[in-house]
Amino acid sequence: MLRIISAQEAASYINDGDILAFSGFTASGAPKVVSEAIAERANAEHEAGRPFKTGIFTGASTSEHLDGVLALADAIDFRTPYQSTPNMRNCINSQRINYFDMHLSHLAQELRYGFYKKINVAIIEAADVSENGEIVLTAGVGIIPTAAMLAEKIIIELNGFTPKSVKGLHDIYIPLDPPCRREIPVYKPSDRCGDTVLKVDPNKIIGIVETNLSDGVSPFTPSDTVTETIGANVAEFLASQLRENKIPSSFLPVQSGVGNIANAVLGSLGANRYIPPFEMYTEVIQDSVIDLIRTGNIKFASGCSLSLSDDMMRDVYSDFNSFRDKFVLRPQEISNNPEIARRLGLLTINTALEADIFGNINSTHVLGTKMMNGIGGSGDFARNAYISIFTCPSVAKGGKISAIVPMVSHLDHNEHSVKVIITEQGVADLRGKSPIQRAKTIIENCVHPDYKQLLWDYLKLGGTGHTPHTLSACFRMHQEFIDSGDMRKTVWTK
Ligand code: COA
Repeated sequence: MLRIISAQEAASYINDGDILAFSGFTASGAPKVVSEAIAERANAEHEAGRPFKTGIFTGASTSEHLDGVLALADAIDFRTPYQSTPNMRNCINSQRINYFDMHLSHLAQELRYGFYKKINVAIIEAADVSENGEIVLTAGVGIIPTAAMLAEKIIIELNGFTPKSVKGLHDIYIPLDPPCRREIPVYKPSDRCGDTVLKVDPNKIIGIVETNLSDGVSPFTPSDTVTETIGANVAEFLASQLRENKIPSSFLPVQSGVGNIANAVLGSLGANRYIPPFEMYTEVIQDSVIDLIRTGNIKFASGCSLSLSDDMMRDVYSDFNSFRDKFVLRPQEISNNPEIARRLGLLTINTALEADIFGNINSTHVLGTKMMNGIGGSGDFARNAYISIFTCPSVAKGGKISAIVPMVSHLDHNEHSVKVIITEQGVADLRGKSPIQRAKTIIENCVHPDYKQLLWDYLKLGGTGHTPHTLSACFRMHQEFIDSGDMRKTVWTK
């Protein structure tokens, strides 16, 4: 008989040095009250002069209820993969948390391969659970199917906010591991290959903690001229590819990254009259996807989480039958699977922090040193895309930073994974171009007018070779920002 327990009792089973795995992907489907109780326990242990730190595996970023409070309580030894709360970011950048960043599709399989420490406790948010260990997950899946299989013990957070009627939303599938792995039988975004429920050994379940809390995802800030122009440039570029028969006339499934730019891009794709209704094979299903499902612009969306603002989530849950055949949630090793991305021919659209004139992308490190969030799923998709697009505003910090620099200060996606760069200034199609041709295309089409001459002048410094860098000057713009606070003041000297 499964036992109802308090969050505090659940936390009492967690010990210093334990390795924990949490369900969900973004704030969606991530536990909320057990994690807070673990943070309280950590604070109490620290006050009593005893050590208390855990290792943490999640699907992706979580929320203040989890990463936020555990980082603040100094309760984390190591953490992977993607994260985005300010407390966690600060602890990572001050080296108080050992963070290792990974492609999201890699984590579950590498846990199974035994590359990391053994998971002691998996904490799973559920919409429903049965005595025989069948769990209906909530708005995010992440790594939890693998983590639940590997964990010694399981704690369930039964969240009444998600109606039990969501059963059927999920497709839980764990591939066999090499040398026995077969093809993953997903041939179109709506194909299902697994179970609607997560099946766990009921003997591992310590207890059930009841809650009734929303994921608390904030609505997007309304798009501004810059994000709208980036979105329109992406839509026009894809429409031109359709006209030139470089994309099949039925269009191809779209993967779109996280954040405000991604939201604006999707809105523009929906509004472009030349782009036919399309499907998505993506990671995060955001508010804009629901709007476009309603207008018929999106026919189907496969993802790892429904990361919807609270109001949108309530709307979807209250009318779930109309959405039942419109989306599916999968574990991240399937939603982001390179084999499937390559097979389906995804049009991938991800965001860069900075790009360089030769087509390399930094998505993670501000000025080469400070971790922002992590690589997320961008590498899973970009490397295996039909066309891989990276977008960003051409400048940051009110124009004091150029997002396009001579050499990226950290490399996440190299020139081989980057086919098109799009800013509000325009589109640089890099396909079939040599490094110097790429540099000219990027400077001409994507760089902000304040920085164009500066970057043309960089190329005149006398760099030679196939990729004509001047190594003594390639980070001068970054250094200028560190020294004076404004990259526009850069003066080139060799
Ligand atoms: N140098 C320094 N800072 C920069 C910068 C640059 N070149 N470009 C942007 N920034 C700053 C912005 O000013 C902003 O700072 P603030 O928070 O102090 O205002 C911050 O970085 C974030 O910029 P913003 O434009 O708000 O970012 P976003 O919400 O569009 O996110 C990424 C951009 C790159 C951080 C985000 O998309 C990400 O984490 N990507 C990696 C993972 C990924 O692609 N996942 C999707 C795969 S499915």
